[in-house]
Amino acid sequence: MAISITWHGHATFSLDFDGKKVVVDPFFAGNNPAAKTSAADVAADFILQTHGHADHIADTVGLAQRTGAQVIGMVEVTTWISNQGHENVHPMNMGGGWNFDFGRVKMTPALHSSGLPDGSYGGDPAGFVVTAGGKNIYIAGDTALFSDMALIGRVGLDVAILPIGDNFTMGPDDALLALDYLKPKVVIPCHFNTWPLIAADVEAWAKRVVAETEAKPVVLAVDETYTV
Ligand code: NI
Ligand code: MN
Repeated sequence: MAISITWHGHATFSLDFDGKKVVVDPFFAGNNPAAKTSAADVAADFILQTHGHADHIADTVGLAQRTGAQVIGMVEVTTWISNQGHENVHPMNMGGGWNFDFGRVKMTPALHSSGLPDGSYGGDPAGFVVTAGGKNIYIAGDTALFSDMALIGRVGLDVAILPIGDNFTMGPDDALLALDYLKPKVVIPCHFNTWPLIAADVEAWAKRVVAETEAKPVVLAVDETYTV
């Protein structure tokens, strides 16, 4: 199975698993200053929601209601989505996995916070390992570096999607250390350059990935697609 991964800016991605569309952390043009695509132009069968912060969830309810997509996330986040009027949700919690028709999703820890936009409690923030067609893709979510990334990496990661923008998540140095733990074949950076607070020299970082780790950096332009 070929899996395509399209970056929409910030931490928003569209993944395509043989025609099944999975959108990660919907934050599109109009809300996301880095995005070129509007949520109205995106297809979704499923939405993977790492946590409840507005820069990840601003377009979730609208996209889910228009497309009918099932929203997968931490139970407190999916309950909040249901309370917004979209009942097609799949609650999970840390360490658990479930087989969806596009692949298996396992929820992984993230070191961060997770309040919802209206101040509701969002439970703990999360990441995901998505396994499909024999390939493993790790979506770290917003997180600091943590050494249990070594356990996440044991599955054998084809792709790791990591935040590198600093201030709210791990920065470039810690993201390099994360690669030592995760040992992915390919790393795709995100959560940088959306605002001055998370400005990063991504090309310089990619050179360090090449020089200092075994991973291949894939720096996507906004709306560019990488296929694994
Ligand atoms: Ni966040
Ligand atoms: Mn964020």
